[in-house]
Amino acid sequence: MKVFVAGASGTIGVPLVRALVNAGHEVTAMTRTSGKEAMLRGLGATPVLADALDADAVTRAVASARPDVVIHQLTALPKAGGVKRVSDLEPTNRLRIDGTRNLLAAAVAARARRIIVGSFALLRAAGPDRPADTRPAAEAVQSMESQVLDADRRGVIEAVVLRYGLFYGAENPATQNMVAMARRRMLPVIRGDRSLLPVIHVADAVSATVAALDHGDHGGVYEVVDDRPVSMTEIVTTLAARAGAPRPFTVPAWVPRLIAPYMAQITSVRLPLSNAAARAALGWRPAYPTIDEGLSRDFPKAA
Ligand SMILES: NC(=O)c1ccc[n+]([C@@H]2O[C@H](COP(=O)([O-])OP(=O)(O)OC[C@H]3O[C@@H](n4cnc5c(N)ncnc54)[C@H](OP(=O)(O)O)[C@@H]3O)[C@@H](O)[C@H]2O)c1
Repeated sequence: MKVFVAGASGTIGVPLVRALVNAGHEVTAMTRTSGKEAMLRGLGATPVLADALDADAVTRAVASARPDVVIHQLTALPKAGGVKRVSDLEPTNRLRIDGTRNLLAAAVAARARRIIVGSFALLRAAGPDRPADTRPAAEAVQSMESQVLDADRRGVIEAVVLRYGLFYGAENPATQNMVAMARRRMLPVIRGDRSLLPVIHVADAVSATVAALDHGDHGGVYEVVDDRPVSMTEIVTTLAARAGAPRPFTVPAWVPRLIAPYMAQITSVRLPLSNAAARAALGWRPAYPTIDEGLSRDFPKAA
């Protein structure tokens, strides 16, 4: 298949391009950054330069690739230190609203059969009790999903939405940050934590995305999550144990709310999602059904 990946140089983009190439697909990999073209070529893809917010550039990039399937993995989240406040989400919100519009229009114009969109379970699936500060980000995710699902309903392209859980894994910058903090004993657990969070190893998010090339109902929305949701406390203690870090200390809930209010809000929700629909429709199953199994692969010596 000819596959066009927007966001090809990102945390999921790189292993996704590698997996697509290994599966025999012809991959065009989009980036804004000319310095990343050689890396993408090294993965076996054809790089193409375009800014997702430049509609003409995206149209040209997708048209030149003539893809069967377009995959949307665009975000613009801060790498160093992660998302601390809601304003850090604004560039990503724009990508999810305007970038999606541009990529979808380009995919339809190039007569792609399917568009697969990487969405975020924590922002999309939470109910009305979602914290107010996360609303603009949640609305942007909703816009991204509804744009492609509307196009599917109009019959102009097939759309599949994959709502990934929180990514984890040795190659994931958020995990790397957390490991570094845990080793310095700067990653605490929160007193009274009642969270229940969907997570997914990046390798399993990749395999689900590859499966969605030719599996999954058009118009399908699938939660790509581990077999079992986990509390933030379990994430922190598992990470610390697996990375050989000291036992985390405990802080009251106002501390993370002060230091990293956005992350404190989205990681305090209870969202026990199931991967049953993804397993059934995509013919997929996670290689690492729990975070403990995923991290034991990534940090085998410390286990
Ligand atoms: N990280 C998580 O925990 C998480 C959880 C759930 C879902 N997701 C989903 O996973 C996907 C990607 O996340 P990620 O962590 O892989 O992101 P990432 O590592 O930040 O990568 C973002 C990608 O988007 C590209 N990009 C950003 N702005 C662009 C623009 N204006 N024009 C063109 N390309 C642009 C970047 O390309 P260049 O910098 O090379 O130009 C890069 O390839 C998204 O679908 C997101 O919703 C992530």
